[in-house]
Amino acid sequence: MSARLYDEYHAAIPANAGTYQSVCDAVERWVPAFAGTALFFFAATTEPISATAAEAPPGASSCSGCHAASAAVRTPVTRLAGRPAAEIVAALQAFRAGQRPATVMDRIAKGFSEPEIAAIAAWYAAQKD
Ligand code: HEC
Repeated sequence: MSARLYDEYHAAIPANAGTYQSVCDAVERWVPAFAGTALFFFAATTEPISATAAEAPPGASSCSGCHAASAAVRTPVTRLAGRPAAEIVAALQAFRAGQRPATVMDRIAKGFSEPEIAAIAAWYAAQKD
């Protein structure tokens, strides 16, 4: 910072100090009020969502880190939601057996048992978006 800018900066502080103070006061007054309201809406709107999430079988949420859950996300990794369960199961079995070329899915597929794969595939097949 040049000496001139430095002087201007400091000269500006007393003039603005009152503004900063009143902004801080306003924030202190409004933030708790807003947080209370936001919490209310959060609690009110997330109830049905968490009920759906609770139904996801173990391991299903790990897939969505790479396989986007939302169609709005542009990604080269295919989406799983709405894919037929049999297709997902067949793909995972082929990955696990090394019959299908993979960069990561061969290793991931090896981490799940048949019933786990079936449950995850059925859950994704039932997801809309
Ligand atoms: C680390 C990122 C990552 C995770 C986590 C991941 N996948 Fe994948 N998945 C990929 C990639 C990348 C491919 C393409 C094949 C490859 O390169 O391994 C793929 C391919 C697939 C395919 C074949 C898709 C097609 O179009 O035929 C299926 C099915 C699949 N994954 C299911 C799953 C399931 C189920 C899970 C969770 C248990 C999962 N994936 C977790 C990255 C991931």
